[in-house]
Amino acid sequence: MTSTAAGAGQLWAISDLHIGYDENRALVERMRPESDDDWLLVAGDVAETVDDVHWALATLAGRFRKVVWAPGNHELWSHPKDTVTLRGVARYDHLVARCRDLGVITPEDPYPVWEGPGGPVAVAPLFLLYDYSFLPAGCATKEEGLEYAYGTGVVCADEHLLHPDPYPSREAWCRARVEETERRLAGLPAGLPVVLVNHYPLHRHPTDVLWYPEFAMWCGTALTDDWHRRFDVHTMVYGHLHIPRSTRQDGVRFEEVSVGYPREWRKRAAPPGRLRRIVPEEGPGTGSAAGAVVAEGGGR
Ligand SMILES: [Fe+2]
Ligand SMILES: [Fe+2]
Repeated sequence: MTSTAAGAGQLWAISDLHIGYDENRALVERMRPESDDDWLLVAGDVAETVDDVHWALATLAGRFRKVVWAPGNHELWSHPKDTVTLRGVARYDHLVARCRDLGVITPEDPYPVWEGPGGPVAVAPLFLLYDYSFLPAGCATKEEGLEYAYGTGVVCADEHLLHPDPYPSREAWCRARVEETERRLAGLPAGLPVVLVNHYPLHRHPTDVLWYPEFAMWCGTALTDDWHRRFDVHTMVYGHLHIPRSTRQDGVRFEEVSVGYPREWRKRAAPPGRLRRIVPEEGPGTGSAAGAVVAEGGGR
């Protein structure tokens, strides 16, 4: 465990920056903390190329006291436009190494502890992937689920771009990650709540509102179904769905913090690229939990 003593500040989160879009890159250029003590959690889908991921995380790491990153599926794609041609675990390890060069915390690092207002709270970035266990209604196996999805045409690009090497499958990689992560979380000190940061929700309920329910197969794993109850979870931060909202499951706060694609955020009433405050948690009467900040212009 590492700890950064800070007497002030706030812990913010965002995900799905997708800076391959110029409009989204411009949002990152304007993102700034409210104070020198603020931390930022980035829950995956920064970009498809290593250079773009590095640019965004370097930009944010230069402004926030600490940046914590969990990978999304887009970072893990072996995309034809990326000069880095690594696949699977080798690509993930390369991204982790680039993050470490920047001082950005990854799922491979000791979990930092937020000691500012609302703390102490451990922060655990997770990389768990998915295993096709969020099956469409009426389907009993991955094969049946995929057959259904190919029939409707709703198939995640991961099928062609996210390679599991050297694991035989993405679900095998997922199971290994879940096992290792479970062990680490079980080792957290008693009485210390934890903010879990994962690209996918750790419980299926947020996928209930998907426009295409079959897409849930690429959105998490039932293996983590009870983690928000088993561990002392302060908040579960996720993205991927591109449906930003706040929910509660068994009394535990789940926050979907995605920016999404320009064609998605243009339709929303809220300004794009706003950070979601995670700690301290906003209490009753202090406004929406989705209240957040992007300092326009020069910032501090
Ligand atoms: Fe995304
Ligand atoms: Fe994603």
